Amino acid sequence: MNVAPAIDVTGLVKRYGGRAVVDDVSLQVGAGRICGFLGPNGSGKTTTIRMLCGLLTPDAGDGTCLGLDIRRDAAAIKRQVGYMTQKFGLYDDLSIRQNLDFVARLFELPGRRAAVDAALERLGLTARQHQLAGSLSGGWKQRLALASCLIHQPRLLLLDEPTAGVDPKARREFWDQIHALAADGITVLVSTHYMDEAERCHDLVYIAYGRVLARGSAAEIVASAGASDLEDAFVRLVGQAQDNYT
Ligand SMILES: Nc1ncnc2c1ncn2[C@@H]1O[C@H](COP(=O)(O)OP(=O)(O)OP(=O)(O)O)[C@@H](O)[C@H]1O
Ligand SMILES: [Mg+2]
Repeated sequence: MNVAPAIDVTGLVKRYGGRAVVDDVSLQVGAGRICGFLGPNGSGKTTTIRMLCGLLTPDAGDGTCLGLDIRRDAAAIKRQVGYMTQKFGLYDDLSIRQNLDFVARLFELPGRRAAVDAALERLGLTARQHQLAGSLSGGWKQRLALASCLIHQPRLLLLDEPTAGVDPKARREFWDQIHALAADGITVLVSTHYMDEAERCHDLVYIAYGRVLARGSAAEIVASAGASDLEDAFVRLVGQAQDNYT
């Protein structure tokens, strides 16, 4: 069994206009783990995720995703990582199937039809495959977005607020999917503002002002913050960060 971490980066920095929006972030996520990435709006989650998947070059820091160097092997990382962006990035005027087929073409997948069928099946989208993406409710849209990240069978998923604006039942089903994927050995880094989702992660990383504030299991973070629950820990940690970093 491969025990090397799926994500192993140290000292990541990204500056915009002289301001470090990601400031010395180190992350290690074990293979097959679900790591929740928590932090207030503007704390640097999306920027960090984009550095991990080779879309953004760090100003400092280095490391690997799936053993591939985030600076040198960005192209290979893009082929092996599934990145679900914060905004729905698919085509409203294409059907579910056409959207997935389009992504399969981008990856130049051999056996495109089978790959699309497998993604439809995995996410329970087969019966709706001819429905236009633009006509889907928020929950089904997010499910399609997840299917599109899985089409090239990635071993690491970077999910950026995948359930924002989705109702509780659809969110729960989405998380059942995440756990099923992790059970198959896929590693997941997922940002969220929902504490019930944070509870379902194996590990958590809290970030604010571009800096890591705490990491560990939910129980460890609650205990070390002297908090009553994860939401309380969030409020306390971000409050301390505000005092320290502003
Ligand atoms: N291309 C850019 N140019 C300038 N500033 C940027 C750019 N991208 C992000 N920022 C700034 O960097 C900071 C971190 O943004 P980022 O999107 O990473 O935060 P986030 O944690 O994902 O927030 P949210 O929870 O709202 O999605 C913010 O202050 C944002 O305005
Ligand atoms: Mg974001």
